Amino acid sequence: MRLIVAPDRASAAKLTADIIERFVKSTAPAVLGIATGATMEEPLAEVVRRHRRGAFSLARTEIYLLDEYIGLEPGGRDTFRSAVDRRFVSRTDVPAAAVHSPDPHATDLGAECDRYEQEVRGAQIGLQLLGIGTNGHIAFNEPGSALDGTTRVVELSEQTRTDNARFFAGRTEPPTTAITQGIATILAARELLLVACGPSKACALARAIEGPVTEMIPASALQLHPNATVIADPSAASELASASAVHESPFDVPMTSGVENQ
Ligand code: F6R
Repeated sequence: MRLIVAPDRASAAKLTADIIERFVKSTAPAVLGIATGATMEEPLAEVVRRHRRGAFSLARTEIYLLDEYIGLEPGGRDTFRSAVDRRFVSRTDVPAAAVHSPDPHATDLGAECDRYEQEVRGAQIGLQLLGIGTNGHIAFNEPGSALDGTTRVVELSEQTRTDNARFFAGRTEPPTTAITQGIATILAARELLLVACGPSKACALARAIEGPVTEMIPASALQLHPNATVIADPSAASELASASAVHESPFDVPMTSGVENQ
């Protein structure tokens, strides 16, 4: 695992955009897995800014979402799909047909999960962006999720529903269930990039990077991946014993195995 502690949150966003830019420029089609949520807003906004300045095209990018809530109005603004369309896809030249996500309105959700699992596996994600929940979740793999789990319907933990209530701003209660890629699905990506910002992520991040690999901290599964990078701002990195260096570039940081980190 490669750990990059950025000087601040804005730098973490820029370093994340650097990695996305390099990936999009070097691969065609660039199959990009996207996490939704507050952490990804600034990095994706930075990618949009660079694209609009003419730095690169996203026309040959395929986008795969990690997860989607169940029970929201189809196309409603609180769905992850709408958020990604609004903040990213509609502001770039990513073709609308190149955005893929699980359908939470399918009549047979089990079959839909199987379909999406096959679609994601067939596409072979090149770079998978990840956030981390305050409870250590990745996508909506909550504590206790099997490390070999695949795409499925899950119940959201009370912690996650409380954390995400801010996105619903009193309009509606956060949903109780979602479709999520499993940990095995995520680990099948060629490269993983987890971004963590803010003090609320510090405890989960330290346990994910420096603790044992355990189903109780789903993000600890990144230690099992041969090409996983973590970008943290100083507050998210504050409980890491190993985070002494602050890096300005994501490309000069050596890889250390998660096992050595313990
Ligand atoms: C959402 C997802 C989640 C978020 C995580 C962090 O697609 O995959 O795992 O990445 O809940 O959310 P924020 O960034 O809002 O703190």
